[in-house]
Amino acid sequence: MAMNMILLGPPGAGKGTQSKRLEDTYSITQLSTGDMLRAEVKSGSELGKQAKAIMEAGGLVSDDIIIGMISNRVDQDDCKQGFILDGFPRTVPQAEALDSMLSDKSLKLDHVIELTVDDEAMVERICGRYTCSKCGQGYHDKFQKPAKDGVCDKCGSTEFIRRADDNEETVRNRLSAYHEQTAPIANYYGDKGILKKVDGMADIDVVTSSLKDIIG
Ligand code: AP5
Repeated sequence: MAMNMILLGPPGAGKGTQSKRLEDTYSITQLSTGDMLRAEVKSGSELGKQAKAIMEAGGLVSDDIIIGMISNRVDQDDCKQGFILDGFPRTVPQAEALDSMLSDKSLKLDHVIELTVDDEAMVERICGRYTCSKCGQGYHDKFQKPAKDGVCDKCGSTEFIRRADDNEETVRNRLSAYHEQTAPIANYYGDKGILKKVDGMADIDVVTSSLKDIIG
């Protein structure tokens, strides 16, 4: 049966790291609005041009753009088994739009899980993060090194990239945007009785186990 869920949490909380693991375990698809926007920026599309400066400053791209992007993506075949929303919704209007979008498509949310973390630790996590440029596997200078230095565990590539917005100044702006615009959606889902919380400061494997305990 299809399973749809949201992973909530500030920049660096581990949404991307955990979504990739849950994708493999439950055969569901990670839908990261950040990854979608970065693909638009890379392609040089009109949408990408609009989003680039906002992302590099650590602000939020407009709700209309994001909602349209997700609605199209959810209709694709690889979401039939279910999806994990990573980085969406990020504002109350996005959460409300998601509700009506799911109801129009006769879909529902099975889980909303918040990764709770300390802001200061997020700066270190994000500034040390990098990914394989070929397969997208994520790593960290200190917390998640490849088994062989400079070689991707997953695909063997030796090329890695760091995100343009992963510097301290932008991370602090992203954390402010989170507290001002995104944190209220935890109450939105709390009021609906669907929100669960997991300690995102635990080791990566421990966080994965806690998520699986909730999901079943
Ligand atoms: P987005 O790509 O969504 O970035 P984000 O929310 O800032 O989240 P991150 O990807 O930084 O963090 P993460 O929680 O996935 O952490 P990760 O697992 O990599 O958005 C980027 C931008 O796009 C936004 O700023 C905005 O401009 C725009 N945007 C996107 N969606 C939008 C929307 N809906 N509306 C409007 N604008 C939107 O982990 C981080 C590092 O820590 C990794 O190196 C990892 O190895 C390490 N790590 C993870 N877990 C642990 C752990 N438990 N212990 C130790 N290290 C850990």
